[in-house]
Amino acid sequence: MSRDVYPANSLSPPTSASHRRRRDIVTHSPDETLAFGRDLAVLLSPPCLVLLEGELGSGKTVLTKGIVAGLDAAAESEVNSPTFALVHEYAGRRKVYHLDLYRVESGRELASLGLDELLAEDATVIVEWGEKLLRASAPVPRFEIRLEHGGESERHIVVEEISQIDSLID
Ligand SMILES: Nc1ncnc2c1ncn2[C@@H]1O[C@H](COP(=O)(O)OP(=O)(O)O)[C@@H](O)[C@H]1O
Ligand SMILES: [Mg+2]
Repeated sequence: MSRDVYPANSLSPPTSASHRRRRDIVTHSPDETLAFGRDLAVLLSPPCLVLLEGELGSGKTVLTKGIVAGLDAAAESEVNSPTFALVHEYAGRRKVYHLDLYRVESGRELASLGLDELLAEDATVIVEWGEKLLRASAPVPRFEIRLEHGGESERHIVVEEISQIDSLID
């Protein structure tokens, strides 16, 4: 799978100052992953980018349901993978865009999604297959979340919170 195809012309310059906070947990059921997503929502203040990485069936969509519900953007049952539509919009109390880049193969396709415009709406943007975006220089604070299968119903979830602190170095 190719990395770093995020279109260069829509990026801020790489920051030289950022800090990372990491947390990781193991969930033992879809319900636990949903609950973890709802907890994570509390930490998100838009505009914010949430990149979800992990193979098919690792729980990216389940976690997204929890986050979206936690943000009061939509009910869990309204959230499903936008594999064909590429982008779903949930606009309850907060606005969330939910992208799935599984089928996206070129920087041009990514550019056509208008990620920057979505973020400019003060939205939370959640991206399944987020590893297809260039990670070093996303324009807003972001969470990078990696999901891995343990056993059949066990998932290891690692969250890295990356806060950019440009304003301190200007
Ligand atoms: N602990 C768990 N957390 C999340 N999903 C789990 C867990 N255990 C089993 N599952 C199952 O794994 C699947 C995850 O699917 P989904 O969220 O659509 O994955 P992805 O979006 O990564 O392809 C669902 O069928 C869900 O019921
Ligand atoms: Mg999915």
